[in-house]
Amino acid sequence: MKRFISAAFIAASLGAAASTPLYLDVNAPIEDRVEDALSRMTTAEKVALCHAEGKFASNGVPRLGIPELWMTDGPHGVRAEINWDNWGWAGWLNDSCTVFPALTALAATWNPELSALYGHNIGEEARYRDKDVLLGPGVNIYRTPLNGRNFEYMGEDPYLAGEMVVPYITELQKNGVAACVKHYALNNQERWRGHIDVHVSDRALHEIYLPAFKRAVIDGGTWSIMGAYNKYDGQHACHNEKLLLDILKGDWGFDGVVITDWGGAHDTREAALNGLDIEMGSYTNGLTTESAFSYDDYYLARPFLEMIQSGEVDEKYLDDKARRILRLIMRTSMNTSKPFGAMASPEHFAAVKTIGDEAIVLLKNAPLGKKKPALLPLSPEGSGKILVVGDNATRMLNLGGGSSELKAKKMVSPLEGLRRVYGDRILYTQGYAAGRPMYGQAEDIASEVTDSLRRVAVEMARDAETVILVGGLNKNSYQDCEGLDRLDYALPFGQPELIEALLAVNPRLVVVLLSGNAVEMPWISRVPAVLQAWYLGTMGGESIADVISGEVNPSGKLPFSFPVRLADNAAHAMGTISYPGDSIRQDYLEDIFVGYRWHDTKEIPALFPFGHGLSYTTFDYGKPTLSASSMPYDGSITVTVPVTNTGAREGKEIVQLYIGDPVSSLPRPLKELKHFSKISLAPGETRDVTFTITADDLRFYDPDRKEWIAEPGKFDVYVAASSADVRRKASFTLE
Ligand code: BGC
Repeated sequence: MKRFISAAFIAASLGAAASTPLYLDVNAPIEDRVEDALSRMTTAEKVALCHAEGKFASNGVPRLGIPELWMTDGPHGVRAEINWDNWGWAGWLNDSCTVFPALTALAATWNPELSALYGHNIGEEARYRDKDVLLGPGVNIYRTPLNGRNFEYMGEDPYLAGEMVVPYITELQKNGVAACVKHYALNNQERWRGHIDVHVSDRALHEIYLPAFKRAVIDGGTWSIMGAYNKYDGQHACHNEKLLLDILKGDWGFDGVVITDWGGAHDTREAALNGLDIEMGSYTNGLTTESAFSYDDYYLARPFLEMIQSGEVDEKYLDDKARRILRLIMRTSMNTSKPFGAMASPEHFAAVKTIGDEAIVLLKNAPLGKKKPALLPLSPEGSGKILVVGDNATRMLNLGGGSSELKAKKMVSPLEGLRRVYGDRILYTQGYAAGRPMYGQAEDIASEVTDSLRRVAVEMARDAETVILVGGLNKNSYQDCEGLDRLDYALPFGQPELIEALLAVNPRLVVVLLSGNAVEMPWISRVPAVLQAWYLGTMGGESIADVISGEVNPSGKLPFSFPVRLADNAAHAMGTISYPGDSIRQDYLEDIFVGYRWHDTKEIPALFPFGHGLSYTTFDYGKPTLSASSMPYDGSITVTVPVTNTGAREGKEIVQLYIGDPVSSLPRPLKELKHFSKISLAPGETRDVTFTITADDLRFYDPDRKEWIAEPGKFDVYVAASSADVRRKASFTLE
């Protein structure tokens, strides 16, 4: 545990008992304190700030009483304590945490207020555990459903991710805990993540892959950023001149700290010159090769010091890093006015439940025959048996998955949640075997095991009134797991066959998918009800049960598209050089046409489109009214649309506003999300939703002029319930 050395003590030992040194005066402006501290430090002390001293700690300045920085994963909870210098769990007894929903789930709420709630609560946990930097949230764009880490990110749309990331950061940092937004940038797959060299157009970089990071910096004010493992344009992202110096610290004016991903630094000179501030996880007994390498051998340790002492690198580069790190320390570990935090409290569990309730997406809900009601919700009244099938009904999905694994204080499984609602009407059988989360390996399941589990499930399903399959992916290697991508798009562990076999004996089948990724659904036309329920954390089972029973009316919508086939996804449509690359290099050939931008523009319908999600009620969208038919370049116009709840129960709708630029000098997507609003409506109630459009909503990035431009002319406005469910259209002219 770190100690906070009191200002008076330091002052006394400096021989200046009467006056506190400026850098310790918490009432003085931070910039003055930073300069004062810097002026007292030796070159070696400054260099020491720039690298790790343990798996999750970087140095302070012990002589001056400046404490080190303690970091933690991130991004769905505060990770259990790890040993000082190896990856074993330290075995503490006080580090069990609340497991928050995965970030895909948070994004699926389309509710920035819930993002704020998330940031506030996770920040309290990080603070209680005395952490200074929380390694998250992640905003890498969802480019392919095979990316093993999509569950840690916020979907395929830069605007949605940007809207959701800002409140997370703002509320988190109110606890005196820094966000470390990751992985900057272009870490869109895990395969070959340590070296794959991404080539992408400037336009796609600025329009698709950077905007959420930019919002995190400019609007969220994040205090730190984590560099990505991969290369971009021939240079590793953790010391990439264009990403870090030109864009992040130049154009965006970032005043925080760039931290490597663990083992993401590869070169002292580049790290020194190109804007890397803190190096973590290099060759010690960590992620990369085990060796005698010590923290002193880090690229930004002794070799860096030697370069400065020999004059090869100017000390001004070191001073810039030291200033930033001191600023971060003063914002976090030396911040004496931060709150005390709280851990695994009933309030935190309640927040998780609230977020989970709004995250679940009802993908499909069909009646079983003419004049019959839809299968869901499934009333808690009644006596028919409900058979729950599936490994994910009982699996603790806080474990596995890589660095986002969490030691949970409490986890309510789907089976427990359903038992709470339906009592002894619930029967359970595993149905399929999904193996153990062994890092780097996929466990082979014997076909006899798969067959016998399936046979049992089918026999039990015959006699049940309704069957609920809780399946999907899990956190095993090659599923939703860091370090490796999925090997194919299908549901794993024989689930497609299991679904067919269950349907053959009982058509009243509800499929609940737990995953952070889209999956193939060849069975979709025959399954009446499908829920996308993500990884919902501590209270997941309760949210799932409440949505199935109708206690909660589902209101989540997809933050990414589900293609019918993998080849319908843009990255995969462009051949292997586009995904996964040739092991050295990769070209993002689909350019700006990622996700729905591809499906829409190329007219390739998605199985479930971006923005899709059903409710137990229905909504009608009235005619939109524009405040004017033309907009001055520096002005704005408003679009107002009345939305009515036309069903019998209260519900929330996410009203989406997309804009298209039908005639432009460069190709543009058919339409792009520019605004959204989540509203709650009582049965019969109508509310006006108003969006304000400015030229910022109309611009594209012009790579020749290196700026964002809006071209005068006609623009189309699409008021939509999903990217493929446009309810109303209008247009206006930009003068
Ligand atoms: C991951 C990061 C994580 C770090 C520390 C890396 O492997 O990519 O997201 O924060 O490890 O655990």
